[in-house]
Amino acid sequence: MKKIITYGTFDLLHQGHINILKRAKEMGDYLIVGVTSENYDEQRGKLNVMQSLVERIENVKKTGLADQIIVEEYLGQKIQDIQKYDVDTFVIGSDWIGKFDYLKEYCNVVYLERTKGISSTELRSSKNGILKFGVVGNGRIAKRFVKEARFVSGIEVEYVFGRNQEKLSEFCKEFSLVDYYTDYNNFLQKVDAVYIALPHTLHYQFAKEALLSGKHVLCEKPMTLSAAETQELYSLATQKDLIIQEAIKTAYTPCFNHLLAVVKSGVIGNVKDIEATFTKLETNKQLREYDLSQGGGSLTELGSYPLCLIAKILGTEPQKVIYTDYKDTETGIDLMNKVILQYKNAIATATVGLGIKKEGNCVISGTRGYIYIPAPWWKTEYFEIRFEDTNQVKKVFVEFKDDGLRYEIAEFLKSIGRHKPTYKLTEKESVFIASIIEGYRNDTSESCIHLY
Ligand code: CTP
Repeated sequence: MKKIITYGTFDLLHQGHINILKRAKEMGDYLIVGVTSENYDEQRGKLNVMQSLVERIENVKKTGLADQIIVEEYLGQKIQDIQKYDVDTFVIGSDWIGKFDYLKEYCNVVYLERTKGISSTELRSSKNGILKFGVVGNGRIAKRFVKEARFVSGIEVEYVFGRNQEKLSEFCKEFSLVDYYTDYNNFLQKVDAVYIALPHTLHYQFAKEALLSGKHVLCEKPMTLSAAETQELYSLATQKDLIIQEAIKTAYTPCFNHLLAVVKSGVIGNVKDIEATFTKLETNKQLREYDLSQGGGSLTELGSYPLCLIAKILGTEPQKVIYTDYKDTETGIDLMNKVILQYKNAIATATVGLGIKKEGNCVISGTRGYIYIPAPWWKTEYFEIRFEDTNQVKKVFVEFKDDGLRYEIAEFLKSIGRHKPTYKLTEKESVFIASIIEGYRNDTSESCIHLY
């Protein structure tokens, strides 16, 4: 029996897919089709696949051409599959010419002419259209965003809004954008969605105006500095059938999501303690981070990351919150802040600091074992599940590409396509994060300890 194998994502199954499956089937007696898993697609940078693995497998099944369907989950699996299933020929489209020659050591490799004029990418674009993005702000994070957005298909960053014409013009040139605006209303007319990368204190106003103009909003963290304002923005978005999403990049990364699934599966028992640290060695006091009037300080700057992790694992209803900080006498911002959240059956500590370097790791402790994520835990691609018995330790790797912003952009695009907010960072969780930051800024907590 001559066995053929082929692989693909098969998102929004189209004629190009059917043609290649037909031709592959004709080449032998038995066709095995490998469909990529969601994790694997994310790892290899294919970020805005619309359909779930189950839907894609169903569609391949319906063609009636596959004798066997397998899931492709990791790099290097093809070699193992070919040997395991005793495959004679590996078939793939001509867009991959040369890329799989290394498989010739194991079987025949055939590149078949790709069907012209159709692809999942085009279908995704024509389904959702190309989302025209405008960047609000032209600072450091805005630049990183434009670079990373290029890795996500289905969006075009075309415009930038700001105050300083000279800087905006440079920004436009550097990233080949269409144009810049200093008038927010005119800018909003031109785009479908905005990415807000302004100082924290301006997020609320600019996000609200964008939503009122019917634009989707991806807003830098913290979305606002008060629970009521964050809540209001989400309610407005729901009312207008728009998506608003908080740009805490960790929440959308593959390894972090894998980690959450492991914790929820109960492998380490019931979580009793979380310690997460994030410090930044930034000492330039001219920067926004050190400006109290612009919402600077270590908790507003960095607190969103550990608070997001804590909310995802222990929930959004701590019984008590204690802030312990010390402030910079010159600028008045909190240089170091330890926020202790006491839950019914657990404790969590978020430690953040500016101008001090601490080990940026995270430990999630449970009744059976604990998870250790080395620094920098907020952009990790590795963690260990540890137990009393050291022989039981498990090491988990899930790739994280470059800066990691592309995952949050892709998730935003998916949410817009599905008309449904993401589960990766929910309204409730964003409101919770804002409330913890607000509690500190308003000094409302009776347990707030300030050391000068
Ligand atoms: N394929 C093809 N002709 C097309 C599109 C895809 O022959 N017009 C082949 C690919 O070469 C591959 C298989 O179909 O062998 C599965 O490809 P996949 O990546 O799932 O499809 P694309 O439409 O190329 O997806 P995307 O646009 O997301 O890259």
